Amino acid sequence: MTLTTALTELLGLEHPLVLPPMGGTAGGALAAAVSRAGGLGMVGGGRGGAPDWLRRELALVRAETSRPWGVGFLSWAIGPEDLACALEYEPAAVMLSFGDPVPHAERVRRESDALLIVQVTDLAEARRALDAGADVLVAQGTEAGGHGGRRAALPLVPAVADLAAPVPVLAAGGIADGRGVAAALALGAAGAVIGTRFQASCEALTAPGVGAALVRASGDETERSRVLDIAREAGWPERYTARTLRNGYLDRWRAREDELRGDAAAKAAYREAAGRHDLDVVPVWAGEGVDLITDLRAAAELVSALAAETEAALDRLARLRGAR
Ligand SMILES: Cc1cc2nc3c(=O)[nH]c(=O)nc-3n(C[C@H](O)[C@H](O)[C@H](O)COP(=O)(O)O)c2cc1C
Repeated sequence: MTLTTALTELLGLEHPLVLPPMGGTAGGALAAAVSRAGGLGMVGGGRGGAPDWLRRELALVRAETSRPWGVGFLSWAIGPEDLACALEYEPAAVMLSFGDPVPHAERVRRESDALLIVQVTDLAEARRALDAGADVLVAQGTEAGGHGGRRAALPLVPAVADLAAPVPVLAAGGIADGRGVAAALALGAAGAVIGTRFQASCEALTAPGVGAALVRASGDETERSRVLDIAREAGWPERYTARTLRNGYLDRWRAREDELRGDAAAKAAYREAAGRHDLDVVPVWAGEGVDLITDLRAAAELVSALAAETEAALDRLARLRGAR
């Protein structure tokens, strides 16, 4: 059985499940695997500026699936040439997150037929995304892995869905199994955007040890912070923090962000440890849904399991009603 929502209808998907464009982690193989399995896979172009990587991964996704796929970027960081490069590969969807989408949105609309998806972290961003002409919004809760804002998904998703109607809204943040997808649908979302769970898949491009760390970790051990962005001089706008697993570097610098900004030796120590992929120093992006990750699996298997679990959860809810 397939679930039909505004998202599946817009793109001709089998399942209302989206792999977000996780920068550098969601490459062509992962995106293609999700799309082939009936979801929407998106290549993570991140901040742009890596045209060779982007061309390689976009060529790969295009070669490996004939189903719809997408690509996404960080609005605050990308340049016009990154977008032009991505549009050459004719994605079915382009996702913009974090920062002002307007200049890039105009270009996507002018130069392609791609569905424009804008990820938002609060109602003000949702209004701006609608003004920019977004076809679909993603309401991202603070539970999410990686960068994001302060609003929790449970109240944010229905509020954005009410604001945006009839524009479809997807839910993101902390969704890692079919119960979460069913909850997203109950909140009025047309689908679920699932990052951390797909980061723990065989096709994800992750450093050694990251998959195992995600399997081991609990949501209790995740934290939103600016510390690691300051250490790696990532230049993120102040309003967006990153949810990662806690580690020794974060513990040392928590609540000392201003001091860290001016400490060249601490930043040099970070760079040295990052060169060794020391997971006690570098960020392992992870959402609170990491509790629910107990294994590393092929992405196609994950899509099938998520779809089956969603149907089981919806059936369970329907039976509650029937029991009256
Ligand atoms: C490893 C990782 C990298 C991410 N990178 C990006 C990114 O480059 N661009 C983006 O729009 N969102 C990015 N996100 C956030 C996702 O779009 C999405 O909001 C989030 O993964 C949903 O929460 P979840 O991780 O709890 O499923 C990233 C998330 C993770 C886990």
